[in-house]
Amino acid sequence: MTRINSKISVVKAFVFVSLLLILSNQGCNSQSGKEPGDSLNKASPSPTIHVVFTGEENGYLEPCGCSEVQLGGFPKRHTLINHLRGKDENWILLSLGDLPGKVGRQDEIKMETALDALGRMGYVAHNIGEKDLNMGIDLLGYLSQISNVDFVSSNIVDLDTSAFNIKPYIIKEIKTEESILKVGILGIVSPELIESAYLDVTVVDPVLALKPLLSDLYDKTDILILLSHAEMEESIKIAEVYPELDLIISGHLVDRPDLYLKKVDNTYVIPVGEKGKYVGKITLSTRRKESGEDEHVNSSSPAIETTPLDGKFEDSSEITMLLEIYQERLKDEELLAQVFKSDPPSNLTYIGNDDCAACHNKIFKHWEETGHASAYETLVKAEHEYDPECVECHVIGLNYFTGFETIESTPALKGVGCESCHGPGSDHKETLSKDYGKVGIENCEICHNDEHSPHFEFEEYWQKIKHPAEEK
Ligand code: HEC
Ligand code: HEC
Ligand code: HEC
Ligand code: HEC
Repeated sequence: MTRINSKISVVKAFVFVSLLLILSNQGCNSQSGKEPGDSLNKASPSPTIHVVFTGEENGYLEPCGCSEVQLGGFPKRHTLINHLRGKDENWILLSLGDLPGKVGRQDEIKMETALDALGRMGYVAHNIGEKDLNMGIDLLGYLSQISNVDFVSSNIVDLDTSAFNIKPYIIKEIKTEESILKVGILGIVSPELIESAYLDVTVVDPVLALKPLLSDLYDKTDILILLSHAEMEESIKIAEVYPELDLIISGHLVDRPDLYLKKVDNTYVIPVGEKGKYVGKITLSTRRKESGEDEHVNSSSPAIETTPLDGKFEDSSEITMLLEIYQERLKDEELLAQVFKSDPPSNLTYIGNDDCAACHNKIFKHWEETGHASAYETLVKAEHEYDPECVECHVIGLNYFTGFETIESTPALKGVGCESCHGPGSDHKETLSKDYGKVGIENCEICHNDEHSPHFEFEEYWQKIKHPAEEK
């Protein structure tokens, strides 16, 4: 197969990368009124490949619903992808890696769920990030065997091939009306991100690992894409060494794909964004100069299309169902009861709101009317009451001994109670000390953080739930 490439034209044929940049923001975006995908250069008769990329989910499967402005989620992503797919056949969907957020059973189930979702959406490759690796190679091996998505890593080597189905690269054929285009996809993870001390894998310097692969792939493919699970700087260095790469999708520390685009020679380096809140898309066009005339003079500035997954997109029922099964598994495995706990502040004990009510009745009655009192019921309504990642902020002291465990064993500790703000009250109940329970903005911000309460302002919020004056 002849290579079609704009940099080193082996034959009279080449490729151009056309990237459409739409700076879109929630609410006031330049994209409003347009359907995603409309802005692609449809006028061009040349075969086009759409590369859709995500990654760095970091455990974020869906918005929690804590605040209206939250973006992203696999169910909305699926709807977008179906929508885009309806417009064109020439697709590649790529995943940069880092599906789980933390280490532990919940994230194992999460990773399996996320991969299932990627498979159903039609992803062709999942690169292995350091968080994926941290799940342990047993799980990774297992998932690599059962997943519909090819696991790709060019620089994780020496894996037992009977237990792992991880490829150094894949070649994906894209059939267009005029031709078959071969897309080479490679993947690396930066050794700097790996705590290899306890991981039983060998992670090679990406530059060394890529060399033999690229020289082999170059003639067999029409386009080369590297999934680079590394910081932008490192990815840019790789681009400098290997001009044969057309596109590097990079990771880490950049929120959204359109915030940073670097062109190194003819290689574009773009970040994937974070938590899958935005879906990045690039259109790679090829055009053979068969007619002899130079029809390909598209040197217009590259652009990325970044779509924020907001309320415009419905949740796909197929992926929503997967997430429901995920919640069922959390419940069946009783993960709430297994949450890691530490000693409560000053080794005190949580006692629940009822005791407080006996002496601070007016405050208690008022509290009962606030959203804090029904925060647990909110989770029941959302069908997330067995999800430790939600329960944490919707009850008293989940992460501490004597705090909330399960609704059956600690019913008095559900909701955001007195002690969620004032701290464990066992001592105060005896001493009635006035020194107990000073609360400041920092106590609120444990829960009202940027992610879950982006509009939080202490004064404004406190006014809404301020205690009434106590009768003395
Ligand atoms: C870090 C703490 C935190 C976590 C974790 C958290 N929440 Fe919340 N949640 C909040 C806060 C704070 C609010 C109130 C936000 C506001 O009004 O600004 C809230 C509000 C909500 C609301 C809206 C309640 C209403 O009546 O308006 C829902 C629904 C909700 N959370 C569900 C969830 C689910 C589901 C999860 C897990 C996927 C979750 N939360 C995880 C802190 C959290
Ligand atoms: C047996 C009665 C009693 C119980 C039970 C009790 N308190 Fe108190 N609390 C008091 C008294 C009395 C004071 C001191 C009031 C004063 O001197 O102004 C006080 C003071 C406080 C203060 C400090 C007020 C200030 O002036 O700064 C807070 C906060 C407080 N209580 C919260 C709680 C919470 C939360 C609980 C439940 C965990 C609770 N109390 C349980 C009787 C009680
Ligand atoms: C343990 C976690 C947690 C802490 C600490 C916390 N909140 Fe909340 N807050 C929540 C959750 C969860 C909700 C959403 C409750 C719901 O509607 O289900 C919420 C809702 C609210 C609301 C909306 C309530 C309503 O009735 O509509 C206000 C206002 C608020 N919080 C203010 C505060 C302030 C001020 C502080 C600190 C003094 C604070 N919160 C501390 C978790 C917390
Ligand atoms: C969302 C956090 C939050 C919750 C929940 C909460 N408080 Fe408070 N509480 C505060 C803050 C903030 C203050 C004011 C502190 C200040 O002004 O220094 C306060 C002050 C107090 C005071 C002393 C001042 C006063 O108004 O007399 C008492 C007593 C008290 N709370 C009791 C309770 C009791 C009882 C409950 C449960 C029914 C409760 N609080 C629930 C945040 C909370």
